Amino acid sequence: MSFSILGTGKAVPEYVLTNDELSTMVETSDEWISTRTGIKKRHICKEETITELCVQAAEEAMSNAGVTAKELDLIICATLRGEYITPSQACVVQKELGATCPAFDINAACSGFIYALDVAAGFFARGRVKKVLVIALDNLSNIVDWKDRNTCVLFGDGGGAAVLGEGDSLLSIEITAKGDTDVLKCPHGENTSPFYKHPSEHPYLYMNGPEVYKFAVVSMVKGIKRAIKNAGLKEEDIDWVIPHQANIRIIETAVSKLKIPSERFIRTIAEYGNTSGGSCAIALADSVSQGKFKKGDNIVFCAFGSGLTTGSCVIRWDKD
Ligand code: UT7
Repeated sequence: MSFSILGTGKAVPEYVLTNDELSTMVETSDEWISTRTGIKKRHICKEETITELCVQAAEEAMSNAGVTAKELDLIICATLRGEYITPSQACVVQKELGATCPAFDINAACSGFIYALDVAAGFFARGRVKKVLVIALDNLSNIVDWKDRNTCVLFGDGGGAAVLGEGDSLLSIEITAKGDTDVLKCPHGENTSPFYKHPSEHPYLYMNGPEVYKFAVVSMVKGIKRAIKNAGLKEEDIDWVIPHQANIRIIETAVSKLKIPSERFIRTIAEYGNTSGGSCAIALADSVSQGKFKKGDNIVFCAFGSGLTTGSCVIRWDKD
């Protein structure tokens, strides 16, 4: 017993920041950003809080699933920075939804949605739950250095949610981690303790783009291949691929190395940029609302990110 996806939802902030507007803030251009990354715009929080976005995505997923807050047995929120250090973002969302179940966060950065699915699968396997709400949503505009063109052009805010119920949709899943604080990190910032001896680091996202790129390309191809093999399938059996949306060139490299037709890869990066943990969940919710999937479709998810983490899985779509 694993799970079925009963409903999906997404939430992105209203404000859209274009490449042209960014070009007035840092030395960059629509041409550079478009050709190097595939990003045309991103949604950035102005009025919305991360909690409001999480609740919006969750309510849409619950409404699509026909599941009420009282029916939820668990809420998992994959985010690398919630509204508070404590309580967890999942607990804040639980309160807003009026749910009464256990709730906790997972921090696996861009791989968070797949990490959360794996944790949820464990709860289903142990018979502990019947309905689980998974939310994967990040608000990276909060931690990006808006003066650093190497990073600020890449990220956007938002994410998605899925309500899971008992079922057999999950055909394979794998998560990995390779601890690394050199290529991608965001320090906490100031430590106010009068006793603490270490210097503070700037609380901004730092990324060695080319190094992460190399890790990403290898992880994406390896992750997709392993997920398919572990599901007992072949590449030609795959109907859709939902890759983490970090850079269109990473996705196109994966396309060139796999025997899966290019049009089966979902691409949302032009519209949203890299939304970290939110990206696979947004791509899933958009695909569902566009009616892309039919019953029996095999969908591969693959993500990589800070940690360094990776996650990949195959889900068989079992809704009409
Ligand atoms: O979500 C998971 C984590 N993130 C990722 O997976 C991101 C992985 N990495 C990437 O997608 C790419 O490495 C980037 C898009 C971040 C960078 O692309 P790149 O082709 O690897 O460029 P680069 O870092 O090698 O920089 C090339 C040039 C440099 O100039 P010089 O040294 O050649 O004169 C940069 O200073 O482009 C310059 N540059 C920019 N120019 C205009 C860097 N950022 C910008 C910018 N606008 N925004």
